[in-house]
Amino acid sequence: MSNNAGMAAQLAGQSLRVGWYFALNRLVGWRAGQLGAKRRFEPQRPVPSLQELLAELGQLLVSDALAVRDGLYPPMEDEAASPFSYLRRVRQMLADLPATTARQAGHDAATARAEARAASVPDYYAQDFHYQTGGYLSEGSARLYDVQVETLFMGAAGPMRRAALRPIAEFMAGRDQRRVTLLDVACGTGRFLRQVRLAYPAMRLRGLDLSSTYLNETRRHLGGLRPAELIEAAAERMPLPDASVDIATTIFLYHELPPAVRRQVTAEIARVLRPGGLLVFLDSLQMGDRPAWDGLLEAFPVRFHEPYFASYAADDLEGMFTGAGLAPQSASTVYLSKLMVRYKPA
Ligand SMILES: C[S@@+](CC[C@H](N)C(=O)[O-])C[C@H]1O[C@@H](n2cnc3c(N)ncnc32)[C@H](O)[C@@H]1O
Repeated sequence: MSNNAGMAAQLAGQSLRVGWYFALNRLVGWRAGQLGAKRRFEPQRPVPSLQELLAELGQLLVSDALAVRDGLYPPMEDEAASPFSYLRRVRQMLADLPATTARQAGHDAATARAEARAASVPDYYAQDFHYQTGGYLSEGSARLYDVQVETLFMGAAGPMRRAALRPIAEFMAGRDQRRVTLLDVACGTGRFLRQVRLAYPAMRLRGLDLSSTYLNETRRHLGGLRPAELIEAAAERMPLPDASVDIATTIFLYHELPPAVRRQVTAEIARVLRPGGLLVFLDSLQMGDRPAWDGLLEAFPVRFHEPYFASYAADDLEGMFTGAGLAPQSASTVYLSKLMVRYKPA
């Protein structure tokens, strides 16, 4: 297949995928309404129209397809490679809706505390982020996470994560991947690690997360590929030697951390990076990144249990990274997220 045909195929596949998640998003919204979910919160700040959001999502898919055409990284895979197992998860997500909607109505985010592992994780972590049943600690939550997140973002979560592959490709130019160690901090279910593994079959990969059930999903998602070293630990106390990592990535983590923990995690990343090493950070937009979309950031923590989101949205990330000795390389917005690339000076 020519590069342009490959790009067209990737774009067509991604557009279908977005169409599917758009339909799921509407279905979940309708069902939650039937179950008595509260009416929409009206933010004070501006929000984009659905048309504008979809147009920007289209732009994201195009820039991902162009990166594939230019050989920066491989095409996005279809996560429904096993359709039966995928559809079972969709069904489980819908079956879980009455419980999550009831907890949302009652502002009850405490099911994680009943999990066996709750006593051995920090208090700020043992709660039901997004009102997920069991927080990040249950097997059910790990099984449903990907489909829930993609439904929420209308299929944009995977393409947003993939934007983090571009600075990695630029860093890797001229380097021997066998000598490079990449650490994904808070790797979750391993969706990003799998993309990295497909792009760099020989790279030394590590994934760290506090949740053993999510790490089990990572293991499953890497199945058939060369494994990564998976570490169950807190990002603010990483059991890794100083200067042992060339590339650290962290995706959709910081908005779920209290401000002081954000700083501890940043200091840890700076510690484990080698001089000359790269940090690729991707997380939600912050207030003012796209002023015409600020209302979305106001509404998000009201609809979903995101206790640290408001402080994240106003945090001085730039100052935090600089304070930890991580110099700026680039910063950009990627649809609903922002991508910051920093490096540890040699
Ligand atoms: C929103 S999910 C993002 C997961 C993944 N990076 C992704 O792109 O989907 C947040 C993840 O951070 C993990 N996490 C939260 N706080 C953590 C901490 N202090 N140390 C390690 N992992 C943490 C959670 O277990 C969860 O897997």
